[in-house]
Amino acid sequence: MVEKSKASKRGRIACSMTVRLGSITLDNPVIPASGTFGYGYEFAELYNINCLGSLSFKGTTREARFGNELPRIAECTGGLINSIGLQNPGVQRVVEEELPRLRACFQKPIIANICGFSVEEYAENSAVFDQEEQVAILEINVSCPNVHHGGMTFGTDPKMAAEVTRAVKKVTTKPVYIKLSPNVTDIVEIARACEDAGADGISLINTMLGMRIDLKSRKPVVANKMGGFSGSAVFPVALRMVYQVYEAVSIPVIGMGGVASARDVLEMMLAGASAVQVGAANLADPFICQKIISSLPEEMERYRINSLEEIIGGAH
Ligand code: FUM
Repeated sequence: MVEKSKASKRGRIACSMTVRLGSITLDNPVIPASGTFGYGYEFAELYNINCLGSLSFKGTTREARFGNELPRIAECTGGLINSIGLQNPGVQRVVEEELPRLRACFQKPIIANICGFSVEEYAENSAVFDQEEQVAILEINVSCPNVHHGGMTFGTDPKMAAEVTRAVKKVTTKPVYIKLSPNVTDIVEIARACEDAGADGISLINTMLGMRIDLKSRKPVVANKMGGFSGSAVFPVALRMVYQVYEAVSIPVIGMGGVASARDVLEMMLAGASAVQVGAANLADPFICQKIISSLPEEMERYRINSLEEIIGGAH
């Protein structure tokens, strides 16, 4: 149990930042989100990343992918649109080259973000990561909005989300978290379908489908026309969805979407998140996760919180 002590006007109080995701214990709830933190070791050049609770690495497909055509980023008020298109070196190279580099500088449990273009591919990639000791959770990404015939296609239909969940559960003994898309009418219906199919947890939200148009060219800014919008502007939407899903399921929820401060982490946990991922904020400030973790004890003290575990779902 990690104990952080902090001097206060009321004397010294001890606060616990430890959280549990099922049987997995994290020193703190702060996790860089997939696609915003590379494979982690790149950030280890900037600071000791072992302060993180865990990290979720870039969504991985069976084959290597170059990703979508450029340009694939558009700036927006309160965030950005990305249309990366699941650029990654493919599952075998991730296991053989990227994970050993990460292991050399990060000794904590990690989250494998797994993508696919068919139910079979999700299962195959999951079976590969099932063999990796450091991988503690399989985060099944059925919510990438930037690829055709894959990603979000599986996460916007409860039957397909359930089918992927069942297929992955058959090939692994590791906890399976399904990462959901906010681009649906009823997030609760999808979350429940995943839980009924055996999911061990839910991650939400991925990005919101959006677009920008360049006034000079009168054309969409990103080559793929649309992309996933993320950043602080989506925080209230993410918070609302975490709140709704927490109420509907009895498996742990990892909350994300616009989180950029220790206060956002506390809000997400009050809504029902057992742990919290930080995404777009890493792109603006590569030190943001470290800053959030070091400011959490002070914010906890400000709101008289002794233990983060105790506040999960506290707003209900
Ligand atoms: O385009 C991308 O690589 C985004 C992935 C995601 O949103 O999961």
